[in-house]
Amino acid sequence: MVDPETIQKAQRAHEEGSVEFEPEKPDIYGDAHPKELLRLIPEHHDVLKSLANKHIVSAFQFDKEMLEQLFRLAAKYESNPNRYSNPLKGKILISAFYEPSTRTRLSFESAWHRLGGDIMSITDRASTGIAKGESLRDIGEMFNNYGDCVVLRDNSEDAVIEMMQTLRIPIINAGNGTDEHPTQALADLYTILKWRPAMMEENSEPIKIGIIGNPARMRTVRSLLTLLSNYSDAISEIIIIHDDKDEQLFYENQEQEIKNLGLKIRTETNLDKVLPELDVVYINAIAWVKDDYEVMGENLKLSINSPLKPSSIILHPLARGDELCSSLDNTPHNWYFSQARGAVFLRMALLTCLTQRTERVIDVL
Ligand code: CP
Repeated sequence: MVDPETIQKAQRAHEEGSVEFEPEKPDIYGDAHPKELLRLIPEHHDVLKSLANKHIVSAFQFDKEMLEQLFRLAAKYESNPNRYSNPLKGKILISAFYEPSTRTRLSFESAWHRLGGDIMSITDRASTGIAKGESLRDIGEMFNNYGDCVVLRDNSEDAVIEMMQTLRIPIINAGNGTDEHPTQALADLYTILKWRPAMMEENSEPIKIGIIGNPARMRTVRSLLTLLSNYSDAISEIIIIHDDKDEQLFYENQEQEIKNLGLKIRTETNLDKVLPELDVVYINAIAWVKDDYEVMGENLKLSINSPLKPSSIILHPLARGDELCSSLDNTPHNWYFSQARGAVFLRMALLTCLTQRTERVIDVL
C-alpha cells in the first residue's frame, strides 16, 4: 500500500506542474559526433562480412579495420536512428542472462527491436533446464532450433565456450565471469573515438588514459585494454589507478601481456595526483564474484571537486555507486551516459553483421 505522504507528494507535484518532462531533449551530445565518424571512416563493408558464422567471445577478435567498419555502421545507425526499421525482420534473438544486468540485456534487446526482429528472453537460470541439471551444451543444441542468435551472460568463464560446442547460430559473450565483456569494450572504444576521432589517424596527438579499476578481476577493464591496444600509437600511457588494499591487480603475466600488446602501462595509487594529466578517466568499482559482487577501490572517488583536466571525459560501464558522484552528471566530463546510449547503436551494428543482414543497410545513405 502507498503511504499517505507519498500520495500527497504526488498530488503536490501534479498541482505544481513538476510532473511534466521534456520529451524532445536530445542526447547531450546530439548527433554531431557520430556524423563526424561517418564522414571520416570510408566504407569498406566487405570487412564486416568476415563476422558471418562467427561467435563473439573475446575482444581479441577485433582488429583496427574491423573496429572502424563496425563503428562506422554504428555511427550510421546513431546519426539516423529511425531510418533502418527492419533489417532483422523474421529473425529471433535468444537473450539469456543468468546474471543480473540492466544495460547489456536491455540495450541488446532494444537494438534487436529497433532492427525489427523478435526476442525470447531468459532472465533466470532457475526457469530453464539448468535447474534440472541440463548442460549448456544441450541447451545450445535446443537454441539452434529456436532462434538466430544468442546473447549470453553467465558468472562462469566457461559457459560461453560450453554452449558454443553445439551452437550452429552465433553467440555473443555478454559478460562471462571475470573474463571478458567484449561488447562493453566495443561501446567504450566507440565513445572514445566519437570524442577524439583523430586517434584513428597516424601521428595524432597522443592521449593519456587513466583506468580506475582492477585488470585481474574486472572483465570490462580486461576487454577494454585489449581493444585499446589497436590504438597504442595514439595513447601515450595508460595508468591503472588502484587502492592500496587491492591484493592482486594483475593475474600472473598479465601486466607483461598488456605491454606485449604495445600499450605503455603503469600503476598509481594517488588518484588526485594523476587526474590533472588524464584525457580519459575510466572508472569502475564492481567486480563479479560467482553470484555476488565485490566493490573495489573504496577510496577512489570522482566528484565535481576532483582535480580533473578541464577537457577530460569520464567513462563508466555502470552500474555506479559512490565512486562516481552525480555532481558530475551535468558537466562536460559526463560521457558515461553517452557511452551507455551509444551501446545500443554499436550492438545494432554487431547484430546486423552476425545475422548477415549488412547488405540491407550498407548502401542506404
Ligand atoms: N555495463 C554493464 O555490463 O552493465 P549491466 O551489468 O547493467 O549489463
